[in-house]
Amino acid sequence: MASKELRLESEKNNSQRLIVRDLMEVPDLDILEGQDVIQGLSFEPKSLPPKYFYDQKGSQLFDQICQLPEYYPTRTETAILERYGSAIAQTTGPCEIVELGSGSATKTRILLNAYTAAAYPLRYIPVDVSSTALVESSQQLLKEYPTLSIEGLVSTYEPALKALPSKHLSARMIVFIGSTIGNLRPDECNNFLARISKTLQPDDYFLLGLDLQKEISILEAAYNDSQGITAAFNLNMLRHLNRRFEGDFDLDAFAHIAYYNKQDNQIEMYLESVEAQIVRLKRLGLTIGFERGDGAASPSENRILSEISRKFNLADMEKALSSHQLSVVETFTDERQWFGLLLCQRRP
Ligand code: AVJ
Repeated sequence: MASKELRLESEKNNSQRLIVRDLMEVPDLDILEGQDVIQGLSFEPKSLPPKYFYDQKGSQLFDQICQLPEYYPTRTETAILERYGSAIAQTTGPCEIVELGSGSATKTRILLNAYTAAAYPLRYIPVDVSSTALVESSQQLLKEYPTLSIEGLVSTYEPALKALPSKHLSARMIVFIGSTIGNLRPDECNNFLARISKTLQPDDYFLLGLDLQKEISILEAAYNDSQGITAAFNLNMLRHLNRRFEGDFDLDAFAHIAYYNKQDNQIEMYLESVEAQIVRLKRLGLTIGFERGDGAASPSENRILSEISRKFNLADMEKALSSHQLSVVETFTDERQWFGLLLCQRRP
């Protein structure tokens, strides 16, 4: 009897430490929903924003990708965090953690452990487009960290950065790991860094994870895994669009393609039509025609670019950061230099 009451009591305490704000449910933004899909599919080369990967199933498939033998980024970055987490905590001192694209927050735990070991207070502000991933990971974290408080935002990055709760601790660190920044085109990346810099106060921190340039065969294998999980992840975007916008994409009529573009230093992932077909997205009033694709490693009108995943060079990124008043204070990498973790500080 006592144990049941105790459990209820602790669950109550857990929920008291959790606030989630869903910016996607704000009615004013409803008519704008899907504008980016219309924009992306209306011009050649056709493209879709990678955020549409992450419905509940997509977030689960991404977690599976992170475990694949070919997908080295997660394992490599995790090892760097394990090794240097306490160094990061020592440098920043007590600070609240804002994480963009928090997902299942697996790597976040390494940072939370380091801040716990340093006896720092814990405040966590996860931002993710998948409300299920955000709520489930938050509830789990609250069980694991009895002093943690969470204020999550279900949102894309730009609106979240404009709507962050006010700072409670003396410093704040925006965490953008996993090389998610690789999804942004150079122009988008530039705007994003400007926004990060604007959001941070002088002396606040920015922790950035970067997948680095390396041998092409290693890169291409990471996006063409032998179990077909990446293909399922890519195709799931169409299932998500069908549900969200009353679409009739036939998942069997599209194929996963991924290869490295050497000129632009990026993996490009496509959904290619395997036959001539017409697809409708009723809720957006869109009708899109496709010819049969040829599977070639070159752009074509028969496919949709679903993701770019840029591969970086540390020196170039340091320059870009610096042009936005962000100084790299520490650079952490692995022995093979496959992945980089940059701890940056906003200049006064
Ligand atoms: C989450 C954007 C970092 O680009 O490697 C994994 C997503 N796509 N496999 C990446 C992804 C295909 C991932 N990021």
